[in-house]
Amino acid sequence: MVNLDALTYAGNAENLADVDADLGGKSYFFERADIRDREAVAAVFARHSPDAVVNFAAESHVDRSILGPADFVTTNVMGTFSLLEAAREAWKDRPSGEVLFHQVSTDEVYGSLGETGSFTEETAYDPRSPYSASKAGSDHLVMAYHHSYGLPVTLSNCSNNYGPWQFPEKLIPLMILNMLEGKALPVYGDGKNIRDWLHVEDHCSAIWTIMSQGEAGRRYNIGGDREMENIGLISSLIEIVAEETGRDAGAMRALITYVRDRPGHDRRYAMDCSRLKTELGWRREHSLDEGLRATVRWYLANADWCEHVRSGEYRHWLEKNYGRR
Ligand code: DAU
Repeated sequence: MVNLDALTYAGNAENLADVDADLGGKSYFFERADIRDREAVAAVFARHSPDAVVNFAAESHVDRSILGPADFVTTNVMGTFSLLEAAREAWKDRPSGEVLFHQVSTDEVYGSLGETGSFTEETAYDPRSPYSASKAGSDHLVMAYHHSYGLPVTLSNCSNNYGPWQFPEKLIPLMILNMLEGKALPVYGDGKNIRDWLHVEDHCSAIWTIMSQGEAGRRYNIGGDREMENIGLISSLIEIVAEETGRDAGAMRALITYVRDRPGHDRRYAMDCSRLKTELGWRREHSLDEGLRATVRWYLANADWCEHVRSGEYRHWLEKNYGRR
């Protein structure tokens, strides 16, 4: 297995410390490279001759994309392009059953839902933030490489992830850490935007299911069937943190602060995952209640990791994003 990572602000070599051990140190290689760098990507292909590529690499934070879209366009669109070009070149003589390019994408490419309904794989793309537009562009490129060049590809669109190791710009780790530090809990707008939540391990098992059993040229929705209003989710987290630490839930509730809404904030996402379930038999393993509690426990048990992450560039981001709200 080769891990190609640019280690930008959200990347952290510390997160990978155990990977070597997990794989017995035999077949794991770390390559520090930027997917925008076509020569570097081609060199990695030449060194390792991969049979499959999973494109997890992306600038992923919506608020950052609104404040500075450039990296989103270059990394998500041009970076995917350079991975596709490297795969097309390296695999030109390989039969399609032997190689696969899997694109990891998001439910946000589908746009925003009203009070009812859910996104299916037939829903037309309607991205509304620079982030989701850049993911939509890269998804279209991936599918175009399948149709134009016969590159074997699969694509997954997933809802909001949570779990251990998540960079604390995302809602759940940000809220947990702010609760522990007695800081304000910033809720965008009226707090009633709805997201569907899935444990990161369930996301990974779904990707593996698609890669091993899915059909080339096909997309698959992945979700947790667990919609929550943001304010409801934050209230649940407060209850769990109170139970796990003995802190006063009322004092934490008093930290909730309604702030200016995210521009163009998508109201609701919901995923219809019946294709993945009926055709490939995938099921999620983690319930949201159990997964949130395990996540809170992980952040409590990994205070050093949290401190290292919080003391870096992330601090400047906090000032930039929340200073204006
Ligand atoms: O839906 C999948 C997407 O989920 C992924 O494609 C993105 O890469 C990932 O960042 C995530 O996007 P969201 O914008 O939904 O996640 P975020 O954690 O930024 O926000 C979740 C919700 O919470 C959203 O409605 C905005 C709100 N929010 C977020 C933050 C950071 C707040 O109310 N306050 C906050 O401080």
